[in-house]
Amino acid sequence: MSITYHVLPGGVLTGEIEVPGDKSISHRSIMFGAIAEGTTYVNGFLEGEDALSTMNAFRAMGVPIEGPIDGKVVIHGVGKYGLKPPKEVIDCGNSGTTMRLLAGLLAGQDFAVTLTGDETLLKRPMARVANPLSLMGANIDTESEGRPPLRIHASSSLQAIDYTLPMASAQVKSAILLAGLYARGVTTVIEPEITRDHTEKMLEAFGCPPVVNGKSISVEGSAQLKATTIHVPGDISSATFFMVGASIAPGSNLLLRHVGINPTRSGVIEILRLMGADLTFENESSVGGERVADIRVKYAPLKGIYIPERLVSLAIDEFPAIFIAAANATGTTLLSGAKELRVKESDRIQVMADGLLALGVNAMPTMDGMVIEGGMYHGGVIQSHGDHRIAMSFAMAALRAQGEITIVDCQNVATSFPGFDELAKAAGLNIRLT
Ligand code: S3P
Repeated sequence: MSITYHVLPGGVLTGEIEVPGDKSISHRSIMFGAIAEGTTYVNGFLEGEDALSTMNAFRAMGVPIEGPIDGKVVIHGVGKYGLKPPKEVIDCGNSGTTMRLLAGLLAGQDFAVTLTGDETLLKRPMARVANPLSLMGANIDTESEGRPPLRIHASSSLQAIDYTLPMASAQVKSAILLAGLYARGVTTVIEPEITRDHTEKMLEAFGCPPVVNGKSISVEGSAQLKATTIHVPGDISSATFFMVGASIAPGSNLLLRHVGINPTRSGVIEILRLMGADLTFENESSVGGERVADIRVKYAPLKGIYIPERLVSLAIDEFPAIFIAAANATGTTLLSGAKELRVKESDRIQVMADGLLALGVNAMPTMDGMVIEGGMYHGGVIQSHGDHRIAMSFAMAALRAQGEITIVDCQNVATSFPGFDELAKAAGLNIRLT
């Protein structure tokens, strides 16, 4: 069923809200809990469609999982070699993380599995995981140009590799490390840029700390995981829509409670601060190796900046929202070095440029980024192309538009942020759904 957002112009974001649990950590809690020895308890789990796709995949492979109930999940781990062949093809839905990390985890099992997904996922590149996994001895078929479905054949003899990633990708890194848990020897992945390190942190929480040396991460094939308790913080990627909304709407003062601020994820904070945003951390603490804080956001006039390339991989999911901040800034914002944005749930460079142009913003897409001139913009109709983050970003843009913004194809917001519209309305956004 297709959902359309109608967002009236104006509004102020105030009060205190809590965004749902971190998507990346939620996926990993199920995967690691499933192959650990013992019972893993998760709280704060994201009850969004993507994380539920991962949960369903492991249920289909015989892992008893209770919940989610109010963010609580109990996983009765079956151990590294306890997964059972699924009776059917595994449907990863819209979730690239499910498909890529599962490809790694299943590459070394002694049974065959097929991974498929929705129309969007079937267009996304998978050779980036199939190639290194093949080097380890896995036998994986893809459709033409490395697209899904992925047919993973049985293989119980993976070899460790040393692999330099051709692109900054935490999903590819994690897929290889997960396969490395089943390989003979020590598997090492070298990243071109630091990317989110939730897999490394979770390996440590499950009793198998990887050896991390700058951008090089190594795991032992003989590692055994021991069950633990995982506290999932609020997702900084979901909090970003509200950080941008409150930064651009005069009079806003919003507290986002208990958000994960892992330094490999918090590039958006630095980018928005460089633009002049008023963001402060309150109640900073550490939960299970992940840093968390309440984030207070107050309206502040923003200015255009050249976004430092070193921050790109630390804010990779936040650019749709950052582009909205740029449209509201004085002067020009320039992003480069971000061609990975073209292979996300949509081509986020093109789709964001099209949407901004539809509102009258001067936006120029480039091969690996965008140039945006801030200024006034009118309302209009936005095609989100089924991309959750495009939909939520343009919803926030309405706070400063001069007319209603209508966003079509918003149903996939439920993949990462169930309840976005109610929470946004409670904070002050004038949003209605049809
Ligand atoms: C993710 C890694 C990123 C990110 C995605 C989640 C993860 O993808 O865009 O939303 O959980 O590892 P890439 O690895 O493709 O950059």
